[in-house]
Amino acid sequence: MSIDHSHSSPYKVTTLIRQIHLPRVERMNLRTTMQRFGPISDQDVTDGLIEAHRSAFLGSISGPTREYIYEALRSQTVTVLRGIGLLDDELPMTPSEDAGFPPLVTNNLHLAVCAVVAEPASYDVEQSGRLIHHLVAQRGQEHTLTGRGGAPLGQHNDLAALNDTPEALIITGLRAGDPPVPTLVAGLEAALRLLSPRERQALEQPDWDIAMPYAYEEAARAAGQEVTRNVPLVQRLPDGRRRIRAAFYGDRTRPLSRQAEAVTRKLRTALDNVAEPVALYPGDVVVIPNRSATHGRGQVPSRHTGTDRWLLRTSVFPEHTFRRLRPLMNTSRVIDTRRYFEGQKP
Ligand SMILES: [Fe+2]
Repeated sequence: MSIDHSHSSPYKVTTLIRQIHLPRVERMNLRTTMQRFGPISDQDVTDGLIEAHRSAFLGSISGPTREYIYEALRSQTVTVLRGIGLLDDELPMTPSEDAGFPPLVTNNLHLAVCAVVAEPASYDVEQSGRLIHHLVAQRGQEHTLTGRGGAPLGQHNDLAALNDTPEALIITGLRAGDPPVPTLVAGLEAALRLLSPRERQALEQPDWDIAMPYAYEEAARAAGQEVTRNVPLVQRLPDGRRRIRAAFYGDRTRPLSRQAEAVTRKLRTALDNVAEPVALYPGDVVVIPNRSATHGRGQVPSRHTGTDRWLLRTSVFPEHTFRRLRPLMNTSRVIDTRRYFEGQKP
């Protein structure tokens, strides 16, 4: 494997983003191994299949590559596995309606990367209860602030309002779009360096309410949990690392004081200033840490001609969280969101 340091490349290698190019022989191995699973859809997923994906992936790459990937993940960088495989010989047209997505061979590879990082799972209020979310600007959703929408999304981490925030997001590129719409990623530590000690301290005070993402509101409201109250935007974890809760889109992040409002603006600007583009081309897979980094996007143009941007996304959870939530999931690892919020009641 190699790291791309060339400045002529459209991608920058920075302390936040690490790109891994697997040797050709390993890419070929992966392709052959993963194609044996055939095209699959969400309903085909079981714990056994995920485990098979995990071993197939790890068995197809060499020891040094494995170590390198694990090292990248441990260091909380945004890790891009370039061109490890769009496995469908003929990719269907990008769907512009939610009339069901076709089974894909690439789903296997996408889930394999998820399983190597942590435990993939989804909540059933999103994307009709699919484990794999399709990020496509759907017809009529051009202004919607979701994965199905096309409107620009400010920096945020996914499910910032929930107690059980995913550890990371895995996004696989099927089509980049024309012109490509990059995901913008920002590192918390880099953003905090642009703030004064006093501002950093203010961010650790419980001075914000964060509203649930729009798709979760109804289920959360039923349990009186539609807003997570009195939380800091930056929190120090027992291991010394810092985590961020940010939902800088729409009206989701609500400062509770003048001071909180001012520092919210500072943090937002800082994240925008340090944000870096990651364009995903067919077969690229990116792992975005969801606690130490945020992400956003610009406007996603949609022409509905079958060539629009099309990405697969799944969240992964730490093993202990996954075990705790497993009784709330169906066999395809989709969480019953209403029961989840019921269980969160104090
Ligand atoms: Fe997101």
